[in-house]
Amino acid sequence: MLALGCDHGGFPLMKEVKKYLDEQGIAYQDFGTCSEESCDYPVYARKVAKAVLSGECEKGILICGTGIGITIAANRFPGIRAANCTNAFMAQATREHNDANILGLGARVIGVGTALKIVETFLNTPFSEGERHVRRIAMIEDLKNE
Ligand code: RB5
Repeated sequence: MLALGCDHGGFPLMKEVKKYLDEQGIAYQDFGTCSEESCDYPVYARKVAKAVLSGECEKGILICGTGIGITIAANRFPGIRAANCTNAFMAQATREHNDANILGLGARVIGVGTALKIVETFLNTPFSEGERHVRRIAMIEDLKNE
């Protein structure tokens, strides 16, 4: 199960992402927002981060205007590794190296075609589980103790 969340800036792209997921038969839970009315992206980052951390959802997708604010907010939760990606290489690398569990997208930065390629890559790329990557992810988690 995928957790989806966006703000008003991300809403137009989220509609396209949901259409793609429906076509692919990929199950998701939509945590909103559900219109282009102005709202606060940390609200939706929190809902999606909590759904991923609880295990209710395996991964998440967060979209705002730039992908930046909503990703910054999600990364405040230890255990969340949210990556704002602007191309498929970044999506592949962040799955393989960082075991990213949330994909961030910027609706005002990339086009729909690129966004859907990023989503496809993010969902289909496994973590490489190399020793150095496991070690570095553990080091990221340790930062919360400082
Ligand atoms: C909303 O206007 C915009 O600031 C938001 O979608 C996002 O880009 C923040 O990082």
